[in-house]
Amino acid sequence: MNTGTEALNRDEMTSGVQRVFAQVTRYPLEILDPQASLEEDLGVDSVKLGEVFAVLREQYELPATIGIPPEQLRTIGGIATALAQHLGNGNGHGGNGHGGNGHGGNGDGGHGDGGHAPAPAVGAAPKGSGKHGNGSLEPAAFEAGVRAVFAEVTRYPPEILDPGASLEEDLGVDSVKLGEVFAVLREKYDLPATIGIPPEDLKTIGTIATALRRYLSATVEPAPAPAAPPPGVAAQSFAALTPQLKPFAGKIVLVTGSGRGLGKDIAVYLAELGATVVVNSFHSRQQGIATAEEITAAGGEAVHLWGSVANVDHVEALFREVESRFGGLDFFISSASNGMLARLEDITPEHWEKAFRTNVVGLHQSALRAARLMRRRGGGKIITMSSPAAHGYVDYFGCMGAVKAAVESLTRSLAIELARDNIQVNCVSPGPVYGDLLDKWPESQRLVAQWEANTAYGRLCEARDVSHFVAYLLSEPVKLFTGSVLVMDGGISSQGW
Ligand SMILES: NC(=O)c1ccc[n+]([C@@H]2O[C@H](COP(=O)([O-])OP(=O)(O)OC[C@H]3O[C@@H](n4cnc5c(N)ncnc54)[C@H](OP(=O)(O)O)[C@@H]3O)[C@@H](O)[C@H]2O)c1
Repeated sequence: MNTGTEALNRDEMTSGVQRVFAQVTRYPLEILDPQASLEEDLGVDSVKLGEVFAVLREQYELPATIGIPPEQLRTIGGIATALAQHLGNGNGHGGNGHGGNGHGGNGDGGHGDGGHAPAPAVGAAPKGSGKHGNGSLEPAAFEAGVRAVFAEVTRYPPEILDPGASLEEDLGVDSVKLGEVFAVLREKYDLPATIGIPPEDLKTIGTIATALRRYLSATVEPAPAPAAPPPGVAAQSFAALTPQLKPFAGKIVLVTGSGRGLGKDIAVYLAELGATVVVNSFHSRQQGIATAEEITAAGGEAVHLWGSVANVDHVEALFREVESRFGGLDFFISSASNGMLARLEDITPEHWEKAFRTNVVGLHQSALRAARLMRRRGGGKIITMSSPAAHGYVDYFGCMGAVKAAVESLTRSLAIELARDNIQVNCVSPGPVYGDLLDKWPESQRLVAQWEANTAYGRLCEARDVSHFVAYLLSEPVKLFTGSVLVMDGGISSQGW
């Protein structure tokens, strides 16, 4: 083990830091280029970076806080250099500043975005909770309990921790530190991994305490299970899509963002229908690998390819790999998405940039490459994903709504320009879908109940509803559909959100 007084060789330090990143992210070492951008190239968000620092701290006996400037926290090389300097200077213990700099809780996928806090930023309170592990829910006592956790983690004297002070501006508590605070709060109050706290409530100890108290006192009953479809509905479903008939046997499909969420369900269902599926994931590399394994364990055909659709080098490598393995492509489902769910006052230029680059530039760059591979098969079908919320006001969807409107517009242009190659391009626009993304929506408990009430059937979409519809659009008998944005939202847009 290296200790503080030992002058560390920078190369050794780089390999050591790389190994810790490999251990935490489970990426193979060769992916972990010391110069690659952690966020852009490797999908390492602030939450994962916090986990990496926890291991580094233990391994190198680092103090709780280390003065690493934000620009050095962007690459493994930068971190290794900073740590080598820190340890080489005999700074084994002590020091000040911060151990990692925040990106923030991000609504769409929970990946790093500037400014706010990491893991706890958004999420759903489990319905019908109301239990809490520890302590009183009386407001003053509860706030004191939360303050005590901040004092324990930051080692600030409690009197500095004014409940109204801005955590970032006044107290220097960055998102990594806030992540550590939440780890302790989770244990103390028996909280789940994600809690529905909107970004604006993460700015002070007081607002966090209020949000947690609200969460812990929630006694909302679970929403009734969606009614089963009337008998006979399944039997009437599109006969060509019977899994036993394997209608997509011999078809190659790429589904971006399919390690988890809706993309995963689409990938699994298309594999059940006989397609060979290329599963893609970026921040959730392990989940992508697991999805491909799940498909093959069930007798289907799948491979996993890692990479970011927001990074054109990754997109190029992804399609080259599809080409070398399969020689062509039949279907491309552009499901990957990343963006901040927040009120407009909390949206930064960086949020716009990331959401647009992932959803729109990623679609453009991928669709062109998909089309090249589809031409070799005499044509193909591309499905993009939007949301009906792009056409009205929906809480916290200001940035994503505008970006999804761009996805719809790009879908129409792609449809016309790729028609000559016999490629149909359509956009599926589901209303809110039960699952991860809704769980991360700020105020999700209130909003999901409101949305359910505003559908014609009292329930939102299930992932499989969407997968069925995607499969229908991909199926052979569906012709002449192109450039369409197909809404499936149980009537929510007609009735009003
Ligand atoms: N769920 C809904 O209520 C709903 C409603 C309407 C439309 N949609 C749309 O349907 C699609 C899937 O939704 P979802 O609920 O599964 O969303 P989600 O829970 O936010 O997941 C987003 C997916 O995109 C992937 N992703 C994020 N950044 C990426 C990048 N740079 N490169 C590659 N993949 C990336 C994520 O995987 P990694 O973690 O591996 O990066 C994840 O699989 C999205 O386009 C979404 O906007 C969803």
